[in-house]
Amino acid sequence: MSIRVGVIGAGMRAYDFARYARKNTDRVTVAAVCDIDGERAREFAAHTGMADAHVHTDIRGLAAEKLDAAIIMVPDAFHREVAEECLAMGLDVLLEKPMALTGDDCRAIIKAQTRSGTVLQMGFVLRAIRFYQQVKKILEQGTLGQVLSMSAAEHLSLDHSASFMRRWHRKRANSGSFLLTKCSHDIDILNWLADSRPAAVASFGGLDVFTHDKQPATHCSVCPAAVKAACPYVFKGAFVHLTAEDTHDPSRNNWDLCVYNDDKDIVDNQVAIIEYENRIRATFSLQLFAKRDQRHLTITGEKGHLHGTLESGKIVISPAGPGEEVTIDATAGPGGHSGGDTASFDAFLDAVRLRAKPIADVRSGLESTVAVNAIDRAMLTGKVVRISRHEYRLD
Ligand SMILES: NC(=O)c1ccc[n+]([C@@H]2O[C@H](COP(=O)([O-])OP(=O)(O)OC[C@H]3O[C@@H](n4cnc5c(N)ncnc54)[C@H](O)[C@@H]3O)[C@@H](O)[C@H]2O)c1
Repeated sequence: MSIRVGVIGAGMRAYDFARYARKNTDRVTVAAVCDIDGERAREFAAHTGMADAHVHTDIRGLAAEKLDAAIIMVPDAFHREVAEECLAMGLDVLLEKPMALTGDDCRAIIKAQTRSGTVLQMGFVLRAIRFYQQVKKILEQGTLGQVLSMSAAEHLSLDHSASFMRRWHRKRANSGSFLLTKCSHDIDILNWLADSRPAAVASFGGLDVFTHDKQPATHCSVCPAAVKAACPYVFKGAFVHLTAEDTHDPSRNNWDLCVYNDDKDIVDNQVAIIEYENRIRATFSLQLFAKRDQRHLTITGEKGHLHGTLESGKIVISPAGPGEEVTIDATAGPGGHSGGDTASFDAFLDAVRLRAKPIADVRSGLESTVAVNAIDRAMLTGKVVRISRHEYRLD
């Protein structure tokens, strides 16, 4: 059975889903595309070989499409209203991360999902990657004994770093914060591996590189050639989806906004310390300006520790006492996000077909948003923030 879906938000992420859908026509049919920008919706349908998909600019138009599910890939600030609308139509939902900007917004989505009784899977693709699944298995087998601490970091390449400084993510009103929009699934992975919830957090961060005093021009299109030649962040079209008109004139929708603009309120580096309810302690850092995108993970238990980088696909387990180091191969599967895209889209369609529990449910979405918001509060106030159980309530 091919599941009929509507894709909502025909942007960069939707093209990842489109690549999957084109290879899996026996499993999924994109019957409709909705974007508030009709040009983007039409291009999506045409360029992805889904010319039969009906194009909408108003989500309410999807009600007549006899869909099974909605794939929600709109900017974070719209997750709540779009998810509520889709759930009210009785659709199963794949909702991109973060679930929503606040705990209350997450609870509103949970309420709508409880009322509809449909499947909602969060877009926490990291959970579907072999590397993290292997780490989870190692912890469950007790190889490290009692787990004491975890240390994780996400490193972003220059192009990737720059894209957040010039796109909608640059304003907290759209994205919640850099940590929420980019790393809500890294915090989810730590929560999942700890099998617990953050109880107290501290954090430091700031905007230290992309500061306005360095801005040579408003957009790359009007920047002096000599400055552009030396600028590592000059707009090259990476990490965005441009329509034909955008490609012709990137400045018309601010795509090539200077990274040093003063129209942003996010940070460009942040570290967090977390104590879980089960006393596991963790650190997480968001690090820009890297050679390439990378994720690092170290976990220490009473019997030894493990270390790995997602990109190498290797997990090294070092026993604390005698005993040899063991290297486990968890090489990436095919497709984007180290194979996580294919595996998580597969998992969603299976959950829809079998009416099964999704790989990342609404509770994981709420817990990640609540934890990240507490970390940001800690950063902004310079205080340790304790998270009460009440903040994690589902209703
Ligand atoms: N899971 C992941 O690894 C991953 C990766 C990238 C992005 N994302 C998430 O995917 C979502 C989309 O990000 P993106 O980079 O594709 O953004 P984007 O800006 O490229 O695309 C978003 C699209 O949504 C449209 N849109 C905005 N509001 C809308 C509304 N109310 N109804 C319908 N369409 C609307 C915009 O016109 C745009 O075409 C975000 O939530 C982001 O955090 C997740």
